[in-house]
Amino acid sequence: MEVVMTDLQQIKAGIIGFGGMGFHHGTHLMALADGLELKGVFDTDPERMNLAKERGFSAYSSQEELLADPDISFVVVATPNDFHPAIAEAAMRAGKNVMLEKPATITAGEFEKLIEIAEETGRILTVHQNRRFDSDYLIIKEVLAGGRLGEVFSVHSCVHGSNGIPPGWRKVKRQGGGMLLDWGVHLLDQLLLVIPGKIARVYCTMQTLPDGSDECFDLTLTFESGLNAVVSVGTKNFIPQPRWLVCGNLGAAQVDGWNCVGKVVTVKDTEVYFEPEIVYTTAGPTKTMAPRNKLTVDEVPLPAIRGDEGAFYQTLISALRGKSKPIVDNAEVLRVLRVMEAARTSYETGRAIEFNM
Ligand SMILES: NC(=O)c1ccc[n+]([C@@H]2O[C@H](COP(=O)([O-])OP(=O)(O)OC[C@H]3O[C@@H](n4cnc5c(N)ncnc54)[C@H](O)[C@@H]3O)[C@@H](O)[C@H]2O)c1
Repeated sequence: MEVVMTDLQQIKAGIIGFGGMGFHHGTHLMALADGLELKGVFDTDPERMNLAKERGFSAYSSQEELLADPDISFVVVATPNDFHPAIAEAAMRAGKNVMLEKPATITAGEFEKLIEIAEETGRILTVHQNRRFDSDYLIIKEVLAGGRLGEVFSVHSCVHGSNGIPPGWRKVKRQGGGMLLDWGVHLLDQLLLVIPGKIARVYCTMQTLPDGSDECFDLTLTFESGLNAVVSVGTKNFIPQPRWLVCGNLGAAQVDGWNCVGKVVTVKDTEVYFEPEIVYTTAGPTKTMAPRNKLTVDEVPLPAIRGDEGAFYQTLISALRGKSKPIVDNAEVLRVLRVMEAARTSYETGRAIEFNM
């Protein structure tokens, strides 16, 4: 039955999968959201159900019981990735609007099927791509929009840690583990929103665990424009690369890490040539790779932009009230899933994959 929400009514939500991220949704993100409240959760782990009760939420005895509650109009799916398609389908068929945690699904085919079910049932299907509101991304988005770097030819987006992958489903390929589906999906989502045009080729290398799940990957996307983007995620990198490094013919921008420290360096006058001083490395001289003469460039701090952790849910509530579309377009989700599939094929075949999308 169709539930029509008024502005005064609280949207009642349910969460399926009350682990790390489900807990964050329920106790933090939903608590910040004006107009939405968590009614209850279902998790297969009794300890997580006890935690839910301690926090004052209903703990349903089964997924079916949660989905049968007519109060609940919206369900967040925050289980391991392999359960997402079946739970999302059941929730939409029970009349609920659904938000899947990223990556949405393991394969593009699974997500296509869910889009069809959303159309058939008239329910909202969306994906929690929260990192569209991270400060580092918003800063780079602003720098790119400003055009000060000129023609951008290279973008590196890296997330590196050295703790390895935590134990559990994230290390299991058939459950949708591995870093491509975990962090890669965020970085690709961000990248494809700020780089226009089609991707021509995809090439990927990985380091994998015995079951094939990737601990680390380096993915190169060559756009039809000629722009090269590298997305790199590592869990064994004791010295991380910068979070972002963007190069254009008139300048470059770097964001060092989550702290959003960094700089924008732009050329003052492209017509003027300053002879660089020759640098002698241990074994020989170089003029080409000598440091840039400081008088020829401007160096400024990154724009001071801070992401808003509550913003995603505000856009979601507007969509649930029928006032706007969800900000995460399912065609965008599908494109990212297809890039990740091409990346996997590239790794498995050792070849660059023609993409044209
Ligand atoms: N958007 C983000 O920033 C972000 C961050 C972390 C995780 N995630 C996503 O959230 C999801 C969950 O990740 P996590 O880190 O919370 O994992 P987790 O292992 O901490 O939690 C998963 C929970 O699901 C429960 N569960 C397993 N199968 C279930 C089932 N069939 N029905 C109900 N409950 C079930 C488990 O008992 C566990 O409590 C994943 O899709 C992950 O990609 C998103």
